Amino acid sequence: MIEYYALIKHLHMTTAVLSVTFFLVRAWWSVREVTLLQRRWVRILPHVNDTLLLVLGVTLMVMLSMWPHQHPWLAAKLLALFGYILLGTVAIKRGRSPMTRGLAALGAITLFCYMLGTAVTKDPLFLLPT
Ligand code: HEM
Repeated sequence: MIEYYALIKHLHMTTAVLSVTFFLVRAWWSVREVTLLQRRWVRILPHVNDTLLLVLGVTLMVMLSMWPHQHPWLAAKLLALFGYILLGTVAIKRGRSPMTRGLAALGAITLFCYMLGTAVTKDPLFLLPT
C-alpha cells in the first residue's frame, strides 16, 4: 500500500484543486442565477470529486497514522472543512439573495485557502507573524 503513497497524495492534491475550481464556477453561476447550475452533471460531478478528495485525505491520514488530536494543523483543516461545506451550501443552494450567496462564497473560498495553507505549512497558525 505504501508504494502508492505518492500517487494517493498527488490525487488528493489534484482533487483539491478541482474542488475549488468547480466551486468557483458554481458559486459564480449561483450569484448570477445562471440556469446551467441546475444541470444534472453540474450537480453530480463536484460531489463525486469532493467525495474522492475526502476519501483520499482519510486514506493519507490512516497510512501515516497521523491523527487530528496529535497534529493541530490537521484538526484545524478538518474544522475549516466543516465551515467550507456549510458556507458552500449557503453559496450554492440555501442563500436567498445573490448578496448572501456571494458573501458565503467569499467566506468558503477564504476557508479553502486556509485549508491549503495548513496542509502545506503543517501549521494552523501559519498566518501569524513568527
Ligand atoms: C477528510 C479531509 C482531509 C483529510 C483527512 C486530509 C488529510 C491529509 C493528510 C494526512 C495530508 C498529509 C500528507 C503528507 O504530509 O504527506 C494531506 C495533505 C494535503 N492536503 Fe489534505 N486532507 C483532507 C482534506 C483536504 C482538503 C479539503 C484540501 C483542500 C484544501 C486538502 C489539501 C491538501 C494538500 C494541498 C496537501 C499536501 C500538502 C503538502 O504536503 O504540500 N486536504 N491531507
